[in-house]
Amino acid sequence: MVDFRETDFFSDGEIAQDLPSYLASLRSACPVMQEKFQNVFMVTGYDEAVEVYNQQGEVFSSAVAVTGPLPPLPFTPNGDVAAQLAEHRHEMPWTDHLATFDGTHHTQHRALLQALLTHKRLKANEDYVGGLVIRLVDGLIDRGGCEITKDFAHALSTLVIADLLGVPEEDRPALLEAMGPDPTQLGGDEGFKVGADPLLHLHARFLGYLTERLDNPRDDMLTDLVQAKFKDGGDPGLHVKAQLACFLFGAGQDTSARLVAFAFRTLGDMPEVQAKLRSEPHRIPEFIEEVLRTQPPVKTMSRLAIRDGVVGGVDIPAGSIVTVCSGGANRDPRRFADPDTFDYDRPGVRDHIAFSRGSHGCIGAPLARMEVRVALEQFLSRTSDIRIAEAQHGPADARRYAYEPTYMLHGLQALHVEWDKT
Ligand code: HEM
Repeated sequence: MVDFRETDFFSDGEIAQDLPSYLASLRSACPVMQEKFQNVFMVTGYDEAVEVYNQQGEVFSSAVAVTGPLPPLPFTPNGDVAAQLAEHRHEMPWTDHLATFDGTHHTQHRALLQALLTHKRLKANEDYVGGLVIRLVDGLIDRGGCEITKDFAHALSTLVIADLLGVPEEDRPALLEAMGPDPTQLGGDEGFKVGADPLLHLHARFLGYLTERLDNPRDDMLTDLVQAKFKDGGDPGLHVKAQLACFLFGAGQDTSARLVAFAFRTLGDMPEVQAKLRSEPHRIPEFIEEVLRTQPPVKTMSRLAIRDGVVGGVDIPAGSIVTVCSGGANRDPRRFADPDTFDYDRPGVRDHIAFSRGSHGCIGAPLARMEVRVALEQFLSRTSDIRIAEAQHGPADARRYAYEPTYMLHGLQALHVEWDKT
């Protein structure tokens, strides 16, 4: 049992290996409490998490959304924290990316991206996903098993977002390499070592695509982005648009791949759930929601209090960092009855906060849900049984799984499965 009083969640990578235990320990003192290592207010309550997300702007800034307390703020909070943040935010990691923006600046840029995710684009992308999944499964099915994260999920999520944006087919293998199957996000003590912009390696590539679309418009999202304007008619310029494209690309592949792996793990670890799902494949969407609730791929989201605030009756002084633990909130027994039981029939199965809430809530949720659904439909229809490989993960009563040692994303380092073909 990990004791939150003895362990620094943000720098001890081992916590990721036993997250439920840490969250259970934290819950004994939560829904909102200040841990002693980084002085972060940890939130494990569902209503309290929503309270945090709903106070965006008035009380909370997203400047630390991705990083939490590491690296430390480039200033010592004192007095007018909003003014201090305005002066120093350009020194903070991820500062040029949407997830950390606040206020009108955020609304304007988010609207630009959201306008691109039209029904027409998503529909065309779904057609592509159907064909892609068939190709990927064709290449794997006769092997009788695979390592899901590297052999399937990584390729699926990267190629899907590449197609949605309109990255040329011939460049997609290079992008698969560039993103790599390994964690690409901040996390644990690695947080200290990451530069200001972890997506910098993608910038020149997307700037090149956008520049090329200026002269040669195509029917793709990158062309829509080149032509996009703010609602007031202003044009943010190509560099800002390239940043938006990079972020969309990164956000779209990092997280969905982890969800795919957790979906397979659930099928393998719970044969009774798998059998039920096979008998009612139209329930795959609810199954995915329950995987999102029980294994949210984004395990923490943080905020900086720019003014004094209150969450769950606890005073949050300006300058404090608040970290929402989605895995905690999603298992809050006040919200989800019998929260540790996997039950896709539960009422309010979509009420989890895996995609966050409020003005920064995930704009890619429909895409993520769709790609995982199509993948599961295909795998379930072409197999009669999917099992966790005991050679790598041990027997059913003593499984061994290794998790990525980060405090932000929740992902399996590898997932070996086997199947019987139909
Ligand atoms: C299972 C898959 C996914 C999960 C669990 C997930 C989770 C999240 C979460 C928790 C946030 C909120 C951040 C906050 O409140 O500060 C977020 C934001 C975001 N997500 Fe996702 N996401 C997923 C897939 C995707 C996909 C496929 C895309 C791209 C199409 C995407 C694009 C974005 C973008 C652009 C934002 C930033 C929104 C903003 O700051 O206004 N996500 N995501």
